[in-house]
Amino acid sequence: MNFIDQNLLDYCESYSSDEPEYLKEIHRQTYLTQINPRMLSGHLQGRFLKLIIQLCQPKRILEIGTYTGYSALCMAEGLSGDSFIDTIEVNEELEPIILKNFEKANAKPTIHLHIGNASEIILNNLKSERYDLVFIDADKQNYPVYFDLIKNLLNPGALLIADNVLWSGKVIEQNELNTDQETMAIHLFNKTIAADNSFETVMLPIRDGITIARKK
Ligand SMILES: C[S@@+](CC[C@H](N)C(=O)[O-])C[C@H]1O[C@@H](n2cnc3c(N)ncnc32)[C@H](O)[C@@H]1O
Repeated sequence: MNFIDQNLLDYCESYSSDEPEYLKEIHRQTYLTQINPRMLSGHLQGRFLKLIIQLCQPKRILEIGTYTGYSALCMAEGLSGDSFIDTIEVNEELEPIILKNFEKANAKPTIHLHIGNASEIILNNLKSERYDLVFIDADKQNYPVYFDLIKNLLNPGALLIADNVLWSGKVIEQNELNTDQETMAIHLFNKTIAADNSFETVMLPIRDGITIARKK
């Protein structure tokens, strides 16, 4: 869901940096071939992610939820030197599409794709890694789990970015009668990170809501 009028969103996009052609093509292909293509970050959020990477210059990035690779490629555009991205996707049918997209963008050396369940991959393969930025954009009911798993993998000064934290506005409708698992989990994630004194946190109403938190 977008919280601003489509015309205003179009205006924001038209006065932001252009979406490169190769990303327009991934966008087009995702909408032609995938279920639920609205999951893809898109022009505005993609340019936002790239700019954050350029500002913070993280050496190591972890993305949870690759989908067709759009957001990983936006982040890779902002990287310099020997930095790289670990990205995790549970849907193995997406693997050839993601790898083809990374290859077309010459990003294969910079992005390491892990296929499997994010919690298992973090616990089994990545638990001794340290990250300067983590982007959480996978299954919503596991946001609190991901926060627990990654908070000790973040270097001091690292950023945690989480997408869909407003969950189409449902987060303000949650109560004891509304037991929608995803809404409750996102609300718990939002409460937990806001109350955690080891983070400085801001929640922004971009697209479906993005939280940016800096580990102190
Ligand atoms: C919102 S999409 C990611 C969009 C992508 N970050 C982008 O902006 O283009 C969420 C992705 O998370 C994946 N996913 C869901 N549950 C997962 C899990 N437990 N572990 C890893 N990936 C998961 C889904 O298959 C889906 O491709």
